[in-house]
Amino acid sequence: MKQDLKRTRIAEVLRTGRIGSRYVVMGWVRTRRDSKGGFSFVEVNDGSCLSGLQIIADKGLANYESEVLRLQTGCSIRVDGILAESPGKGQKVELKAEALKVMGWADPDAYPLQKKRHSFEFLRTIAHLRPRTNTFGAVARVRNAMARAIHAFFQERGFIYLHTPIITGSDCEGAGEMFKVTTLELNYAPEKDGAIDFSRDFFGAPANLTVSGQLEAEIYALAMGDVYTFGPTFRAENSNTSRHLAEFWMVEPEMAFCDLDGNIDLAVAFLKQIFASVLTDCGEDMQFFNRFIDSSVIPTLEQLISKDFQVLTYTEGIDILKKAKENFEFPVDWGADLQSEHERYLCEKVVNGPVVLIDYPKEIKAFYMKINPDGRTVRAMDVLVPKIGEIIGGSQREDDYETLLAKIREAGLNPEDYWWYLDLRKYGSAPHSGFGLGFERLIQFVTGLANIRDVIPFPRTPGNLAF
Ligand code: 4AD
Ligand code: MG
Repeated sequence: MKQDLKRTRIAEVLRTGRIGSRYVVMGWVRTRRDSKGGFSFVEVNDGSCLSGLQIIADKGLANYESEVLRLQTGCSIRVDGILAESPGKGQKVELKAEALKVMGWADPDAYPLQKKRHSFEFLRTIAHLRPRTNTFGAVARVRNAMARAIHAFFQERGFIYLHTPIITGSDCEGAGEMFKVTTLELNYAPEKDGAIDFSRDFFGAPANLTVSGQLEAEIYALAMGDVYTFGPTFRAENSNTSRHLAEFWMVEPEMAFCDLDGNIDLAVAFLKQIFASVLTDCGEDMQFFNRFIDSSVIPTLEQLISKDFQVLTYTEGIDILKKAKENFEFPVDWGADLQSEHERYLCEKVVNGPVVLIDYPKEIKAFYMKINPDGRTVRAMDVLVPKIGEIIGGSQREDDYETLLAKIREAGLNPEDYWWYLDLRKYGSAPHSGFGLGFERLIQFVTGLANIRDVIPFPRTPGNLAF
């Protein structure tokens, strides 16, 4: 046995491995079966792909009786062996072990992950072990491939990747759903005039975790043209749903000299390219989701790549919903925010695909959206998809100084806090637009996983900060 052989990932062995060549593989045992002929089949997985590699370990190994026959699910091993064609069903190749070393044992009476299928609820309680399951391994690989595809999409188009701050002094959405950042002792916070004196806090002013990088992205768009952010965002909304996280990742392109139509075009091209990339790059994992999670994910993505996205105005959407013979939990009226049941109805029952809903009433959208000539609606766009509802929220931005100032006041915000944002409308203002994509919602859509807690490695939700 050659000790100096380097480890090869199983994905690599399966893709390019040569029959008769020597390989070193390291990973975690999934199963062991013993055959009467004095040898064992050990299935090992190293996370590089869904498939494991079948190891043939026979009694010729010095530690066959003492160790191989004690291998259980979860043990980590190193195998030095020769790749051979596999006569058995289910795999093309197998590795005939010349040496098998146990690196870490896993007591079968205590190890929580056994062969049987576990519920996703249970697996959330062992977030430190769930990536060793097929589903969570596949999610991690798909998430990675999608992140790469997102950067590729923007980089190919000349967008600058911008790092916006996580700690911020402003509330982008104006919805007050922010986590505070402070070093003050909660019990002994200094007070002034009956309120907490933030001038004595770390930053000398109230600080929050950002809900969106948009405002800062606008600054750079109005200097660099096209930029995008891709980072964590935080919302302290108490929504215990299958689509809400307190910490999630958002992708936010922002484009100067771009109106709402250009924004919609970019969003559609963006989604299509990500869908196409995932299907090409993650074929095996996507087959897995299609087979075990939701049998419509692959056909849906394939269809969307070539299909036009339906654009509807909010007013048209409301008309359709009012005529619908459906018992909605929440009433539908012009001026009311759409609930996910309404969004899903439009996608699933009316259009049978994604919907880009535009021109929302100004009262239900953030202060920065550009007002339409009708004075009642704004140049907003939400991209809605079946099963999930909203995955993208965006708009053309208000670029007129006086109008924006009035909108800030109307929203009950203090113009002084937004002086720099207003400055952008004073000096070389230009039409500009952008959107925010909820990365986890997109992963849910792609994988078919019903709960958003299962597409992020360590979910943060109300009452939940395990790990
Ligand atoms: O619609 P939202 O609130 O838009 C913004 O924050 C804009 N500033 C974006 C922009 O124009 N640059 O959020 C954007 C997307 C939503 O469509 C949704 O997919 C996702 O972020 N999102 C969440 N995802 C998971 N958990 C939550 N609590 C989310 N809140 C929003
Ligand atoms: Mg939104």
